[in-house]
Amino acid sequence: MRVLVVGSGGREHALVSKIAQSGLVSEVLCAPGNGGTAQIARNCPVDVESVAALTTLAREEAVDFVVIGPEAPLVLGAADALREAGVLVFGPGREAAQLEGSKAFAKAFIERHGLATAAARVFEDAVQAHAYLDTLTVPPVIKADGLAAGKGVVVAQTIAEAHAAVDAMMGERAFGEAGATVVIEERLVGQEVSFHVVLDGSTYVPLVAAQDHKAVGDGDTGPNTGGMGAYSPPPVVTPDVEQRILQDIVEPTVQGLKTDGLTFRGVLFIGLMIVEGVPYVLEYNVRFGDPETQVLLARWGGDVLPLLLGAAKGTLQGVASEPGPACAMCVVLTAPGYPGSYPKGAPIAGLDQVATVSQVNVIHAGTRVQDGAVVTAGGRVLGVTAAGATVDEVAQKAYRAIDQLHFDGMHFRRDIGHHARSK
Ligand code: AMP
Ligand code: GLY
Repeated sequence: MRVLVVGSGGREHALVSKIAQSGLVSEVLCAPGNGGTAQIARNCPVDVESVAALTTLAREEAVDFVVIGPEAPLVLGAADALREAGVLVFGPGREAAQLEGSKAFAKAFIERHGLATAAARVFEDAVQAHAYLDTLTVPPVIKADGLAAGKGVVVAQTIAEAHAAVDAMMGERAFGEAGATVVIEERLVGQEVSFHVVLDGSTYVPLVAAQDHKAVGDGDTGPNTGGMGAYSPPPVVTPDVEQRILQDIVEPTVQGLKTDGLTFRGVLFIGLMIVEGVPYVLEYNVRFGDPETQVLLARWGGDVLPLLLGAAKGTLQGVASEPGPACAMCVVLTAPGYPGSYPKGAPIAGLDQVATVSQVNVIHAGTRVQDGAVVTAGGRVLGVTAAGATVDEVAQKAYRAIDQLHFDGMHFRRDIGHHARSK
């Protein structure tokens, strides 16, 4: 089977690595890929936001199965177009992708199906949004409705900051038309959890819980990023909390998709806030998290193709992970300045040494190969991923490996997994 993975981040390198290990696969292509995928797959320089180019690539390369990594092509309808072209696809069509593509759509879905969530109001008019803010006593969270590359959410510290966020989104159009509509919601205080569920349109397979660290600095300080590191399992997800997630969040979500006639073949990543043992839905993403994928796949025992292909074909029933590592962690190494502007093209040292360390995998994100050497090419550069028996053990393995890696201005958080580590 010829498989095409769409995307160029750490998530896609992790997917390509795991897919390439499958006995069912003859060749893996990655569009456009990065410096890591280049070493194990064939990179194809195609714009992920061009549905026509992706469809042409799949046809010309006689691809049997496409795994779509990022949300943008899904929201643009790439999965629909590829299915129409007769290709199996992991990833929902444009309609179901609205669960991520429009926060107002997602909020309406969540409320219609009775899921626990932060109270929210949707505004299409800036004057009304400001007037509503004037009635609040506690600073809320302001969200641009559309896709804003993970930057369209402001957790305001003061009401004045909330007004400024509305001005930036609705007035100055800081995120373009994504900010024409905003959602203003109550701030929830608790621990965030990333919960992924693979669906095939009728049945589903829940994956293990993970926890990401969004802030750029240790102790959750500084601006939010796409994710500075993840690990699994997070201790806040006790067996009781997991049961509540499955019963009170996953089940009604899956039923809601059916009731609304939304066919979902892919992975739904539910962003949860656990408030005193009770899960609330913060958001839906219609794709794997990054860097959550790195730890989810590190913990998945055996071949991942039956899971991905099962979602695409409707044959998920009975698919399960074989026993895999009990814990995994991914620590992200970023370019200096990220999530603001940052330099590119810095040589990366130490990759060969770390490649020999057992149960450690360096997943590439923003890298490319230049004159035979791997150099930085993005904000999140590498994700050092370790698997093992305990969170302390995987943290020790990941951070020891990081000691051997270097590029100019390399930054990383030293406290990934702090909720679960003994020191
Ligand atoms: P979202 O894209 O909706 O997940 O928002 C991005 C991030 O903003 C989340 O991962 C949270 O850290 C934070 N956030 C979003 N909504 C809320 C909320 N209602 N209360 C507290 N934090 C939130
Ligand atoms: N790590 C969070 C995300 O992928 O959205």
